[in-house]
Amino acid sequence: MSSIVTEKDVLNALSQVMDPELRRDLVSLKMIKDIRIDGSKVALTVELTTPACPLRQQIQRDVEQALLALDEVDSVDVTMGARVPEDKKIRDLPIKNIIAVGSGKGGVGKSTVAVNLAVALAGCGAKVGLLDADIYGPNVPMMMGVHALPPTPQGKGIQPAEAYGVKVMSIGFMVSQGQPLIWRGPMLHSAIQQFLQDVDWGELDYLIIDLPPGTGDVQLSLVQTVPLSGGVIVTTPQQVSYDDAARAVSMFKKMDVPILGVVENMSYLRMPDGSLRRLFGEGGGEQLAGLAGAPLLGNIPIEEAVREGGDQGAPVVISDPESASAQVLMGLATSVAARMSMIDLG
Ligand SMILES: Nc1ncnc2c1ncn2[C@@H]1O[C@H](COP(=O)(O)OP(=O)(O)OP(=O)(O)O)[C@@H](O)[C@H]1O
Ligand SMILES: [Mg+2]
Repeated sequence: MSSIVTEKDVLNALSQVMDPELRRDLVSLKMIKDIRIDGSKVALTVELTTPACPLRQQIQRDVEQALLALDEVDSVDVTMGARVPEDKKIRDLPIKNIIAVGSGKGGVGKSTVAVNLAVALAGCGAKVGLLDADIYGPNVPMMMGVHALPPTPQGKGIQPAEAYGVKVMSIGFMVSQGQPLIWRGPMLHSAIQQFLQDVDWGELDYLIIDLPPGTGDVQLSLVQTVPLSGGVIVTTPQQVSYDDAARAVSMFKKMDVPILGVVENMSYLRMPDGSLRRLFGEGGGEQLAGLAGAPLLGNIPIEEAVREGGDQGAPVVISDPESASAQVLMGLATSVAARMSMIDLG
């Protein structure tokens, strides 16, 4: 006797399907919406909580297989959607999550990580903004290949520049090149406020902020001014970078900013014979992740393509997506989005 499948059967079957990144099942993550049953046909929507690329197709296949395994089902129609959950702390702005990329030390690759993270998330279909808050050396315009803001139409907010699907704002657009600028506390505070309130960001899933190096007053006041949803900390493998990055960990912790993870940059250089040279030592990333109580989200190798991409305004995830560093950076974007959604979902 053939019976009819019920909504309960569908949910039961799907409670065995895991989101590979979040490592929880789709039902308890409340991702299954709009179940429609017509005889032996089942239709439903999976609403992901991150852009979930490149895992989206795998999830769709897993859902189809789990349902087709039921005797009573012979066709499945899955619609894939995504709705990034919002950080309730952010009021008055149509921005769902604000993520800062920081480190204690200069030159470790913060801007590189921030830029590639933003571009990779946008490439997955998320709405992304990138705010370069590095008042000492705003490198984001060069790295994104944009050098000026578009004109502001009358009666509208400041229009951000746009590149690779990312809306970009930088302190660099405001100062002439090569001109030193002395920032005093209140001035910086109001500049950052302006970047958040007066720039016409539109709706964003993620605003990525490239922080200036260090953990002094400037950084602290930034972290206090902006309602940060999470922080990503970049370090290189060696001790001096670790020591400085440890200060960034305590800064985020003191300000109650959840640390989404640690990224170790310049982890190794692959030699022509395939062996790895660890020019900057090893272990810093792992040690820092332990201290932060957060995962080590990736080890980025030293590759010419990264530096070239930065200098030429074509981030490596775009200019050389097959390179080892681009692969790590794309994986990083997926993990950061996943960690952020877990925090938002509580
Ligand atoms: N994995 C890498 N392989 C090769 N070059 C890299 C790598 N990571 C960063 N670089 C290069 O190193 C330089 C410094 O990186 P970046 O500007 O991202 O660091 P930063 O931490 O933002 O520095 P600052 O503290 O000055 O803001 C850049 O020229 C960048 O292209
Ligand atoms: Mg930088």
